Amino acid sequence: MALKPKIAVVIGSTRRTRFADKPAQWMLRQARSRDDIDVEVVDLRDHPLPFFDEVASNAWAPSQSPEAVRWQETVGRYDGYIFVVSEYNHSITGVLKNALDQAYVEWGRKPFTAIAYGSMGGSRALEHLRGIGVELQMVSTHAAVHIGGADFFAVSPMGGNKPIEEFEANFLPSAKAALDELVWWAKATMAAKAAEA
Ligand SMILES: Cc1cc2nc3c(=O)[nH]c(=O)nc-3n(C[C@H](O)[C@H](O)[C@H](O)COP(=O)(O)O)c2cc1C
Repeated sequence: MALKPKIAVVIGSTRRTRFADKPAQWMLRQARSRDDIDVEVVDLRDHPLPFFDEVASNAWAPSQSPEAVRWQETVGRYDGYIFVVSEYNHSITGVLKNALDQAYVEWGRKPFTAIAYGSMGGSRALEHLRGIGVELQMVSTHAAVHIGGADFFAVSPMGGNKPIEEFEANFLPSAKAALDELVWWAKATMAAKAAEA
């Protein structure tokens, strides 16, 4: 059994002028500073999925779209996920919702945490994501990183466009808690699956 969970930082916005890279890279650095996980970036830009057009989710029927199958293979490579969550009209982006819908089997019984951002720290979007995660049989951490309020406007390109590092004292405790919980759940679910096998 592989003891070191393999974790993906999933970038949930694909628009050309996205802010997402800044929080993704900051969170990647926090995750890579630990020795108890292996972390990679999974960018939805590298997975140009069609809008869902299958007869059913892949829990019920194999997907026909080659991009969907490739995406499922990517999702399946990881033991847990760190979603980079932008808030669009109080929810997650359409592109992330579509990507979540295009796999089922591969998400199940795996944990996720998030770095979310927006005026309210992306908290409404993350709550939607948590509900979706329940349906996908995933487990959410309690802790997550929220970049909101004055911090968000200081680091966003629409505002001060300052480096996140200038404000990271505000985010480091929640990043550590989120990653600690993610590792705990990843090891627990990996062990449970290995015992079942
Ligand atoms: C269509 C759209 C809807 C948005 N809705 C919200 C919102 O409900 N709450 C919020 O805090 N920010 C909202 N924003 C602002 C985004 O949080 C901000 O633009 C952020 O940078 C988007 O993430 P991205 O740059 O990584 O795509 C919205 C932005 C767009 C483009």
